[in-house]
Amino acid sequence: MISNTHFPSARLRRLRSSEAMRALVQENTLSVNDFILPIFVEEDAAERSAISSLPGVFRETEATLPAAVKEAADLGIKAIILFGVSKHKDFTGSDSMKPGGLLARMIKIAKNASPETLVIADTCFCEYTDHGHCGPLAHGDVDNDATLENLGKQAVVAANAGADIIAPSGMMDGMVGAIRRALDSEGHTGTPILSYAVKYASAFYGPFRDAAGCTLGQYEDAPKTRKTYQMNPANGDEGMREAALDVAEGADMLMVKPGLPYLDMIRRLKDAFHMPVFAYHVSGEFAMLKAAAANGWLDYDTCLMESLMSFKRAGCDAILTYGAKDAARILRNA
Ligand code: PBG
Repeated sequence: MISNTHFPSARLRRLRSSEAMRALVQENTLSVNDFILPIFVEEDAAERSAISSLPGVFRETEATLPAAVKEAADLGIKAIILFGVSKHKDFTGSDSMKPGGLLARMIKIAKNASPETLVIADTCFCEYTDHGHCGPLAHGDVDNDATLENLGKQAVVAANAGADIIAPSGMMDGMVGAIRRALDSEGHTGTPILSYAVKYASAFYGPFRDAAGCTLGQYEDAPKTRKTYQMNPANGDEGMREAALDVAEGADMLMVKPGLPYLDMIRRLKDAFHMPVFAYHVSGEFAMLKAAAANGWLDYDTCLMESLMSFKRAGCDAILTYGAKDAARILRNA
């Protein structure tokens, strides 16, 4: 029995009483090592251009990319992920499988600009296909096994260009195994795979698709959604199966995407697999923060850091975020 005179004996507020006390018992921390910056690179563009739905984010050109990479490196950011905005789109996304294509060129430019920065190659076709899907179409859907073969080719082109990490994002069955075999057969046994293992068919990708120019709908007979390959937001157990298959196929790191609406999946993956888990704080999540801040409804800096801390608490080892530079600056000035 708890005596009334001493109740309540458990007073959690004791450990919240001052800045120092709170710091002493803080469970999670954010560091610049946690952030991965996405960078867009537009082909054949004379100047870099702002992306209206992603305030502060630009489509770089091949000429401005070195400065963008160096700026991130100077802020202490260890890794970037590159997205091409192609002007040479076709049915299969063939430009991304060519050693002289945009994908290979932007990787080389980034590595030359800052050799110590880790360059992650988003390994997918939607930025390079004229129909906007993540692989060639057959019978009104994305042809899984034809895409696997092409993913192997694209991954080898990326690794040959200097990519440090291969990150397949197309949600094709068998993509990790196909890429692992292709990399190994070309001598890239040491190149890790970061699998977008649990990727949902999400409306939060809206601003990205504008930025990268990969909205669907240009083809009459092409599916109007990606729901035949990306996951149903209602499903959790299915994500565990996706991740288990990717681990069995040789994934070195797992990603959950989008981030904040799917923190449960981050925690489940971390607890089940005991391996690096990353989250993609996607374009729509970032745009919401920026839009609310622009209206004076939220404080951007505080809400950004709170969002990023949530990822750490959920079990993330690193976070892909358009706020990476802002977060690095906020930590530096703290
Ligand atoms: C596709 C890809 C997408 C994003 C990253 N890679 C779009 C999609 O799957 O439709 C979205 C990222 C974001 O919204 O920030 N390879």
